[in-house]
Amino acid sequence: MTYTALHAGTYLHHIELQSSNPQRLAKFYGDAMQMQVEKQGAVFVCRGPERRLIISQGQDKKLALGAFACRDADGLRMLRERATKEGLNPQDEASVFMDHAFAVVDPDGNKAVFGLAKKDPEGLKGLKGPTQHLTLATHDPEAIEAFYAGKLGFAVSDRVRKPNGEVATIFARSNHEHHTLACFRSDRVGVDHHSYEAGDWTVIRDWCDHLATLDIQLMWGPGRHGPGNNLFIFIVDPDGNWIEISAELEIIHDRPVKEWPHAERTLNLWGKAILRS
Ligand SMILES: [Fe+2]
Repeated sequence: MTYTALHAGTYLHHIELQSSNPQRLAKFYGDAMQMQVEKQGAVFVCRGPERRLIISQGQDKKLALGAFACRDADGLRMLRERATKEGLNPQDEASVFMDHAFAVVDPDGNKAVFGLAKKDPEGLKGLKGPTQHLTLATHDPEAIEAFYAGKLGFAVSDRVRKPNGEVATIFARSNHEHHTLACFRSDRVGVDHHSYEAGDWTVIRDWCDHLATLDIQLMWGPGRHGPGNNLFIFIVDPDGNWIEISAELEIIHDRPVKEWPHAERTLNLWGKAILRS
């Protein structure tokens, strides 16, 4: 097992969501997630401090792509060579936010893009919350693990397993953060949620106070996840996408994979959970 994505110091840079009403969705992210919104051709480009999102016309709640940045050109080259060797047929990908990007398609048809981050514009203001992880919904977590860990070299941090042995959730990392990519077994395919890392509990408080001024209620939390040990709140955007704001996510230098039971307490040590399967 070669941890190519991990060696490349890969991190979630941005995602692109489709929407039947991109303008409404972009306004929501502009207000709620404190992003500057700019229409560029057919898409809305949203930028806040260390967080980025693209919204394009399409089907509500459909993930257009998840985009990861590598630390440097050597890491990106190694990852592309690995993708080629594994038969993933990487294709050049034009990107608003990244240079030298390539795309591969995972077993669920999600487009995963890897590239080098372009410099963010100066002067982006707002609460702390870099784009941090993408969680997929899938019928087949093992296939997602085989693709991202087995073929691209993400490292599995934790698995949640049902009593019958079936894997319910996988958390995988591509740098020191507990997970940059996760997936939940679900009756649907696409995105389960995406997350912004506030870093500190008091910053989550500040996000909650900010959301309150917009009359946006929390959908779930505050709570603390078992895997990753992160504090969390969840809100939902007008299309029904779940957004997580997290803090204190576990930092991993090296440790064996942990296995967790599929139980409410695993997903929320403090209270009620939203089990996806
Ligand atoms: Fe999450």
